[in-house]
Parts: sequence; C-alpha cells; structure tokens
Amino acid sequence: MVQIKLEKVKPGMKQTQLLVLGLYEGEPELLFKRLENNLSSVIKEIVENGEFTGTFGSNYLLPTFGKIRPKRIMLIGLGKKEKYSKEYARIIAGKISLKVQELGLGEFSLVPFSVLDEDLAEAIFEGICLSTYKFSKYKSVPGKLSELNDVTILIDTDDPSIQAVFDKSNLIVDAVIFSRDLCNLPPNDCPPAELARVAMALANEYNLKVRVIERYEMESLGLNGIISVGKGSSNQSKLIIVEYHGASENQRPYLFVGKAVTFDTGGISLKPGEKMDEMKFDKCGGCSVLAVIRAAAALHLPLNIVAILPSVENMPSGSSYRPGDIIRMYNGKTVEVANTDAEGRIILADSLAFGIRTYDPKAIIDVATLTGAAIIALGANVAVAISNNIQFMDKLKKASEKTGEKLWELPLYEEFHDQIKSNVADIKNLGGRQGGAITAAAFLANFVADKPWIHLDIAGTAWTQDGTYERSYIPKGATGYGVRTLVKLLREDESTKN
Ligand code: BES
Ligand code: MN
Ligand code: ZN
Repeated sequence: MVQIKLEKVKPGMKQTQLLVLGLYEGEPELLFKRLENNLSSVIKEIVENGEFTGTFGSNYLLPTFGKIRPKRIMLIGLGKKEKYSKEYARIIAGKISLKVQELGLGEFSLVPFSVLDEDLAEAIFEGICLSTYKFSKYKSVPGKLSELNDVTILIDTDDPSIQAVFDKSNLIVDAVIFSRDLCNLPPNDCPPAELARVAMALANEYNLKVRVIERYEMESLGLNGIISVGKGSSNQSKLIIVEYHGASENQRPYLFVGKAVTFDTGGISLKPGEKMDEMKFDKCGGCSVLAVIRAAAALHLPLNIVAILPSVENMPSGSSYRPGDIIRMYNGKTVEVANTDAEGRIILADSLAFGIRTYDPKAIIDVATLTGAAIIALGANVAVAISNNIQFMDKLKKASEKTGEKLWELPLYEEFHDQIKSNVADIKNLGGRQGGAITAAAFLANFVADKPWIHLDIAGTAWTQDGTYERSYIPKGATGYGVRTLVKLLREDESTKN
C-alpha cells in the first residue's frame, strides 16, 4: 500500500526522485507564484515557448541536473481552470501515480493543484491509492509496473485537518480495495461459504457481530426465496448478517442489503455463453455492503448498521428451481417464477423483509447488480437509483456528487406495478422488456413495507465492462462502486444528526 504523508517544505528544497507540478491551461502564473524563483524560471521557459500547455492529463518530464534538490520535475496538465472539479483532481492524481510507476520510481512529491482544502486532499488521496490497485493474487509472475511506496504532499502551512482527512481516507480506500479484492475472486474460489468466512474474519478484526444462517434455519424461518434460488447448486447458500453497533441500542439501525450471487448462470433459464464469466461479479453488491460496514467500524461512526448478504449460486441442475414455480416468500407474499435468471430480486426480497422484521431499521439501501436493463437505460458509468423517499434520495445524490460515483434516479410510478402482476400468484419476478430496471424495483417495493428505501442497481458500474470510460483510478475488474458514496452518506448523517 502507498504511504502518503504531508510535509511542510518548499518544493525546490525537497529531496525527491520526482517533483510533480500541476499547471492549468493558459494560467501558468497560478503555479509560478507558488514556487521559488529558481524553480519557476526553469519551467517558465518551457511554457513560454509552448512546449507544455497544460492540456488535461498531459505531462512533461525534465531533469534538474542538480540545480535544485528534486532530481526530476514532472509537469502535469490540469486543463482549463473553469472545468476543474474534485473528480478531475481524483483522475489527475491517479494519472500521476500510474505515470510514476511507469517510470519505475517508488516515490514522488506533489505540490497540490490548488489550495489544499479537505475536498482536494480527499480527491488526491483516493486518486493515488485507487489507481495503483491491481488484482494480482493469481499471477505467478508479478506485472511490469514498479511498486509505488511513498508520496509526499508538499504544503506551506500546517493544517491538522488535512492529516485527519488523510487518516480517514486511508480507512475508506482500504474498504474499497477490500471490496474489489473480494469481487474479483473467481467463482470457484468464492462460493457463498467463502463470503461467510470472510464476513466472520471481518467481525473478528473489527468490532462486529456476525450471524450466518444455514439452509436448515432458512427452512424453519421461511426464507423460501433464498432457498429456491440456491437449490440448484451444490454450494450451500448462506444468509450472512453483520451488525455494527456504534451507537446506543435504542437507535434504529441503517439496513444495507447486498446481492451476493457468487455466480449467475441464469439457472434453468440459462444465460447465453458469451460473457457469462462476468457473472462472477454478481456478488459485487454484497461485497460493497460488507466493505461499507467495515469502513463504518474502522471510522467508529456513531451509528448502528446492519448488513445482510443473501449469498447463493444460481445454477441449472436437477434440483434447481424452475420457471412456473410459485414461492411463498418470507413476508407471506407469493411469487411466480417467470424466469429463473431474475434471481436477484427474489433473494433481496426475502432479505429485505427479514431485515425489517428483525431490526426495524430507520432506513434501507439495497445494492445489487440486478438488471441488464439498468445498463441499457444509463450505460456502464451511471448506476440506477430508485427510491420511495425524496429526502433520503437527496442525501444519496449529494454524497454521490462528492465521490464521483455517478447515479441517476429513475421513477417508480404506481403503474409499473401492473407489469409484475401474475395470473396465479401475488406477483411474478419478470416485468417484460420495458423499464426492466424499474419493474425490478417495483418487485422489491413489495418487501420494504413503509420504510425509507433506496435501491441501487450497479449492474453497469460494479466492474469495468463494454462502455466503461477509462478513468485512472478505476483499473480493470471490480470497481468497488458504491462504497465511497455510501460511507459518505453515513458520515454526513453523523454530522447532521437527523
Ligand atoms: N445478474 C443479472 C443482471 C446483469 C446482467 C448484470 C448483465 C450485469 C450484466 C441478473 O440476475 C439478471 O440476469 N437479470 C436479468 C433479468 C431478466 C431475466 C428479467 C436481465 O437483466 O437480463
Ligand atoms: Mn440472473
Ligand atoms: Zn444475477
């Protein structure tokens, strides 16, 4: 892991392999005025003769021939000042650390792109740490990139709040990486039992309570939705429940429910073979939810939280559930199975109803790679959010604007419920081709009672896929989408106390 520290030292005086300086396009003075004269004079020449203009993401490397302490300088283009945002800072920070690795350096120093406030500090920290992530557990020979070990952020005034931001960002980035590592596991090494094991290890490491409900207990509880979906697999289903107690017992908890299908073949309604391997990522919602509660515990947030991960493998076999089956769900409603590939909503539904009855939560968020329709609707870079509560949704939108994890609300109008009416049961698990991401949420709405609830469909954003934009801090594979935003939401709640 990269170590990032603050140091109060003039850029030209810093002993470093590489000094990184950001330059806004057309406004080089913004940089020059922050540098000592002997340093800015070198750069001035390059900028004035047009060799480096500062277009977004461009870079220019120059040696210093021992004239100043840093061995080399890298200019990095920040683009037009008016376009600059926290997300741009995150992307640039990521680009820098990737470039440094490419150069084979293990260390660099950075002059912050502008006044180092808390937002910029967070963005730089995230950009650097998240871009260097690599899932290399299964590689016999390490990749060609060098290891980046140390980054120094150069400041001109001490501000203890920035160190505090770094300390917290560190815990959050750790959680994102935890989520990526878990999501990226191949399905042969990550059956539901493995997720249960990871949750139990997590509970040991942090101050968390964990309960794993096995098949026989699901039967006596009536969690027939989860049982049905998992029946076809020889890997036993698990209902994993993790509790974090950060506040007094009389405070109602937040409930997070994360879809944790360790592999989704579609079951008897078998998926086509193309890209079926990507369905190892069908556990991403569950992994993110687990990472959120991990971060909350690490940050000692003064809240109570429950995370529920229904974990199953959706397989075709002689013991699978079938199209045509009617399931009596945990809350008593009956569901006609129209398609066994619409399995996510079934396991989420039981978990939501069980979570509400057991914990009486104050608010609920479910996170799931639920529908291909979410990708058709918003593409692979924006998650679908659907809610029954405007205020709660507003909080999530605000959090997402700060983290750069894009999401967009779709409406759950009453009429969408018509599409999941069944002739033989209360509802069916299929809503037809129109508005597929919304009818999936309409299904879930049958199981959330009157609780404030947000449904987050991360089918497009949970891993890098066709249509994913290139972003420095999002390497290939699982993205850990949602972790930073949901933690942000919880932290805002902590600060506003309502
Ligand atoms: N896990 C899939 C959704 C999915 C598909 C996510 C592709 C990301 C990429 C889910 O279980 C599923 O199969 N959904 C079906 C629902 C349909 C049968 C109503 C879908 O979206 O095709
Ligand atoms: Mn499916
Ligand atoms: Zn699925």
